[in-house]
Amino acid sequence: MIELSHLRLGQLGFGVRLGLSLFLAMIAAGYFMGLRYLAHHVAQKDDDPEFSWIDLEATYHGVDKPAPLLSVMEDSAHRGYLASEKEYETWVRWLRAEPPKGGGTKDPIYAGFDPEDVPEDQPIPAEIVQDRCGRCHAVGAKEGGDISKRVPLGDWASLSKLAYAKKLDPISPEILTVSSHTHFLSIPTFALLVFGLLLLTGWPRIVRHGLFALGLLGLACDFAGMWLARLDPVYLWLVVGGGATFGGCLGLAMLAMVLEMWVSPYLRGARQDPPA
Ligand code: HEC
Repeated sequence: MIELSHLRLGQLGFGVRLGLSLFLAMIAAGYFMGLRYLAHHVAQKDDDPEFSWIDLEATYHGVDKPAPLLSVMEDSAHRGYLASEKEYETWVRWLRAEPPKGGGTKDPIYAGFDPEDVPEDQPIPAEIVQDRCGRCHAVGAKEGGDISKRVPLGDWASLSKLAYAKKLDPISPEILTVSSHTHFLSIPTFALLVFGLLLLTGWPRIVRHGLFALGLLGLACDFAGMWLARLDPVYLWLVVGGGATFGGCLGLAMLAMVLEMWVSPYLRGARQDPPA
């Protein structure tokens, strides 16, 4: 098998090593900026500014989740906490209310939480929360373990976070195409340069060849996952796992090259001319 390692980066002149080191520094900085941009950009996908799995899912697959206050009623225990069928109907009608067609700023879920002018015998969501949920979910409630800390329910401020369905569309195929076009062409190109230069080091074959293969495999998985996740969010693991593998291999390859260029000549020199 052909070995490229007859030429060693560590034997190159000072100027070339300096140039190559700056090249690596710029690649590292560019890669880091890309990650930062991505985290910032993707993290804004939902209302919560923190970067989360939901953000990833929303970006590459789309999210369509019913309001937690509605889905919790699929749990028979929770449905049983409501006192009557009438309360259940009121609850469901309240949370399924859609904004009026043709615009209008009135939010029917907000307006329906604690409406005035309701007939005496008609249940009101705010009262249901107080009477049926409060014993476990009110702040400082005695029942329900620590659920009152994890999911406190009482006023509108506490309920509003759980009262809305979450529907987020993934990035459009057109945008993903443009993004893929730039990234699929540029990232493998600089990866090939970095992993190719790694071949010109004195590190064991398993390190040089292993990082080369694993790095590009990770990258391929990352790229494939971005498209496959449209079919099923499980493929997001390819994006996350592949991206992390690629980033890890790239970082290690750069470290290995820096050591080769700046530490190994020194060690070789020390071996060749022992101090008199
Ligand atoms: C007897 C205690 C009790 C009562 C009453 C109760 N809950 Fe809960 N609730 C729990 C417990 C325990 C959990 C956590 C375990 C679970 O999900 O079943 C929970 C979980 C939840 C969750 C979070 C579900 C999730 O998937 O994270 C919501 C939302 C919720 N309750 C809403 C309500 C509403 C609305 C009412 C009143 C109609 C209510 N609960 C009444 C005990 C209670």
